[in-house]
Amino acid sequence: MSGGHASGPVHDVLVIGSGAAGLTVALNLAGRAGVAVLCKDVLRETSTYYAQGGVAAVLDDKDSTESHMKDTLAAGAGLCRPEVVRMVVENARGAVQRLIDYGVDFSRRERKDGSLEYHLTREGGHSHRRVLHVSDATGAAIEATLEDRLRAAPGVTVFEHHAVIDLITDRKTGGEGKRCLGAYALDARTGRVSLFRARFVVLATGGASKVYLYTSNPDGTTGDGIAMAWRAGCRVANMEFAQFHPTCLFHPSAKSFLISEAVRGEGGRLLRPDGGRFMDDFHPMAELAPRDIVARAIDHEMKRLGIDCVHLDISHQPADFVIAHFPTIYRRCLEFGIDITRQPIPVVPAAHYTCGGILVNDCGRTDLDNLYAVGEVSCTGLHGANRMASNSLLECLVYGEAAANDIEAALAAAPAPPGLPEWDESRVTDSDEEVVIAHNWDEVRRFMWDYVGIVRTDKRLARAKRRIDMLNAEIAEYYGNFRVTPDLLELRGLATVADLTIRCAMARKESRGLHYSLDHPHPDASRPPRDTVLSPLDG
Ligand code: FAD
Ligand code: SIN
Repeated sequence: MSGGHASGPVHDVLVIGSGAAGLTVALNLAGRAGVAVLCKDVLRETSTYYAQGGVAAVLDDKDSTESHMKDTLAAGAGLCRPEVVRMVVENARGAVQRLIDYGVDFSRRERKDGSLEYHLTREGGHSHRRVLHVSDATGAAIEATLEDRLRAAPGVTVFEHHAVIDLITDRKTGGEGKRCLGAYALDARTGRVSLFRARFVVLATGGASKVYLYTSNPDGTTGDGIAMAWRAGCRVANMEFAQFHPTCLFHPSAKSFLISEAVRGEGGRLLRPDGGRFMDDFHPMAELAPRDIVARAIDHEMKRLGIDCVHLDISHQPADFVIAHFPTIYRRCLEFGIDITRQPIPVVPAAHYTCGGILVNDCGRTDLDNLYAVGEVSCTGLHGANRMASNSLLECLVYGEAAANDIEAALAAAPAPPGLPEWDESRVTDSDEEVVIAHNWDEVRRFMWDYVGIVRTDKRLARAKRRIDMLNAEIAEYYGNFRVTPDLLELRGLATVADLTIRCAMARKESRGLHYSLDHPHPDASRPPRDTVLSPLDG
């Protein structure tokens, strides 16, 4: 839908998303390029802001990059790209130092001689203490620091409440659709759609965990970036690897509240209703086994015993230790009448992280010229079939810098995009049936949870595929006839991401990492492990 041509301002770089990935790109380019940052809500409403555990980096003398690599590769179950893992792990210390230089005040502890050192916590899959954190609100501290920097940075314009609808490629000007030229974005406050032309576009729109009924993620995590890159012609990979965090608070009034893996890192035990521990039955690392194993073990116990939740108990640790390490979790649970210094916490698994995404190279370049993807929206090869805890913020930082450097090097030679058509609403009307959107939102998330969740079967996936095909046809018709709204855009994103997830899951006839199928319960040993790559060119 587009009308007359416009040749308004051109941004050097359009960054879509304001989490750790987007803000890292923007800050690294500020002063060297004209940067526009767009986000759906206010700047800080991101998954980044809600991150609890921390950022993984090798700082302890007894730890090593080899060990961090080994743990990451083990969690990734044969699908990590070793050269990417090395690149990220080796750059971790520098990336964290940049955050410290910006002003992030990571938690410290006193050495025996009275001097201070950074406190490193442990999380699942890590064989050493290597997670830097700001008590249990690491993401809030990082996001707030980056936001303050960004607001003071030269040459950066911020557009809050702007939901990008679609990328624009040179197909709009009669080309082959190989180069990205900008994007259309809906201002949620005015309902107006604006055209943003740019030399480079960076997708930093985060993951897609909202495609599941129960999730630890904030509301905007609807996979918009993955969906719009797919529509624009980019390949997408490994969407079957949806990560479920083992421990979200189970309480009827607690919407998406995470109980950090660091609670288990500091000694928290998972218990059945009778008070018995069970993780020893599933893995030698017990509560600190990789996330897929812990989530599946909990799911198994819940189904076996017919219970609504299991419990996570840290009350054997001294109360002041618990409150000092987990002040946010302590306060939040207390609001629901749970004193975690004395009582176990009811927990359930919930969708948490999208390991798959837009295929990129080692500096975030996608299949389209001038289009980058950074952070959770991308599939870099770092996480393979299962992300290890606290490697995600790290990936945002390392790839954010790499993409910014690559863009800076190419900027001088990049031509300005041509004049492009304005958004055209002449053939659409206001919706007469908003209920369709609400209903379909709910339906997608519910069948994804039931049929494409922690444990899958061929039959459940086939059921999900039939439903998503029907819904996508309905949504496409609706989209063609009615004016866009933020809810409609998110529904369109969710439905595309659901379809991609189901297709990837159907293609993987084995169990590996986060993808577990009762019909194919073992890894396929007959061939080397392979990514699931979907291309829009294949139909
Ligand atoms: P996000 O931080 O999610 O930001 C996405 C941005 O894109 C937002 O600004 C949003 O408005 C914007 N956006 C999306 N769609 C559009 C659109 N259509 N138009 C315009 N803008 C759009 N990882 C760790 O490494 N350590 C942790 O301790 C940790 N804890 C976590 C705890 C929780 C509760 C959650 C939810 C995640 C946690 N993770 C953790 C994962 C990690 O936080 C995320 O993977 C990471 O923050 C993603 O950053 P990002 O910049 O890619 O995206
Ligand atoms: C957590 O604190 O448990 C989340 C860590 C992560 O997702 O990396």
